[in-house]
Amino acid sequence: MKVLVTGASGYLGGRLCHALLRHGHSVRAFVRRTSDLSSLPTLSDGVPLELAYGDVTDYPSLLAACSGCQVVFHAAALVEPWLPDPSKFVSVNVGGLKNVIRAYKETDVIEKIIYTSSFFALGSTDGYTADENQIHSAKFFCTEYEKSKAVADKIALEAANEGVPIVAVYPGVIYGPGKVTAGNVVARLIVERFNGRLPGYIGHGSDKFSFSHVDDVVEGHILALNKGKTGERYLLTGENASFMQVFDIAATITNTKTPFFNIPLFLINLYGWVSVVFCRITGKLPLISPPTVRVLSHEWAYSCEKAKRELGYKPRSLKEGLEEVLPWLKDLGDIKY
Ligand SMILES: NC(=O)c1ccc[n+]([C@@H]2O[C@H](COP(=O)([O-])OP(=O)(O)OC[C@H]3O[C@@H](n4cnc5c(N)ncnc54)[C@H](OP(=O)(O)O)[C@@H]3O)[C@@H](O)[C@H]2O)c1
Repeated sequence: MKVLVTGASGYLGGRLCHALLRHGHSVRAFVRRTSDLSSLPTLSDGVPLELAYGDVTDYPSLLAACSGCQVVFHAAALVEPWLPDPSKFVSVNVGGLKNVIRAYKETDVIEKIIYTSSFFALGSTDGYTADENQIHSAKFFCTEYEKSKAVADKIALEAANEGVPIVAVYPGVIYGPGKVTAGNVVARLIVERFNGRLPGYIGHGSDKFSFSHVDDVVEGHILALNKGKTGERYLLTGENASFMQVFDIAATITNTKTPFFNIPLFLINLYGWVSVVFCRITGKLPLISPPTVRVLSHEWAYSCEKAKRELGYKPRSLKEGLEEVLPWLKDLGDIKY
């Protein structure tokens, strides 16, 4: 099949392109003129990969890229907890999806759209584990990113109700080898931790997140293409664990010490405010900002039983995933142990 991948230059999108090629598909990677293409397979003779330049907010460029493609994987998004201009989350994350749906309606070749949503689109789960039946309450959002993904989710479901063949998949916190973008938060935190810049656990550290290995998420996208039903939601999440467990497992694997204290969230918040001020001066986006702290003060635990049952999704454990991540970061020279 000929597939278009938006967000192909990103952490998830790059690995998705590699996997789609392995599965025998022809891939058109939708990238921006400014995109760093290092996560993509090398363009060479015989590799059925082509580039289409554009921007998801620029409808004509997206429409042109869809030409001849039976499938669109829509993974492009602004994946940041905070941006100086929050309106960009709406134009890219909501507007981009609207443009993909419009392109489906205005062409007659697209047979299926796999839309990469996020656990954020379902909302937090303080004290329980949620499944696909949870709809975001939309009463409170920790980040503008969360809000944009929740709004886009509603649009995807409405489009499916109108007959658009769209399948939404919801990864958890994606981790694992690949491009270290803002979306690869676990790798970034491990690098901070092993380089002495993050000496303690984050907050009380015990709140649960669902950790999804990037290659499981990639496989989940391909399973959604082959078996996913229009209008259905599939959580591509993984083990529900805390960041405290991430650091403890990392310490066990590397035979290093665990942190011996917790950094209170109010201090991290303070650091976040300083980072935001710093960003406004330098333009460098912060790793931690006040919205990140709001995310850290909630739980985000999900069940992927439906994807396992209906798609054959097989997520690995956090320990198995980290056993791969730590040597990978070591080989890159980003951490020492
Ligand atoms: N990372 C996670 O933990 C996580 C968890 C759940 C869901 N997700 C979802 O997974 C998807 C991929 O995330 P990721 O972690 O791979 O993020 P990423 O590494 O930041 O990649 C984002 C991709 O979107 C592209 N993009 C951004 N704005 C664009 C625009 N206006 N037009 C065209 N392309 C644009 C980027 O292009 P450039 O290279 O040019 O910037 C990049 O290729 C997103 O939909 C995200 O919401 C991620």
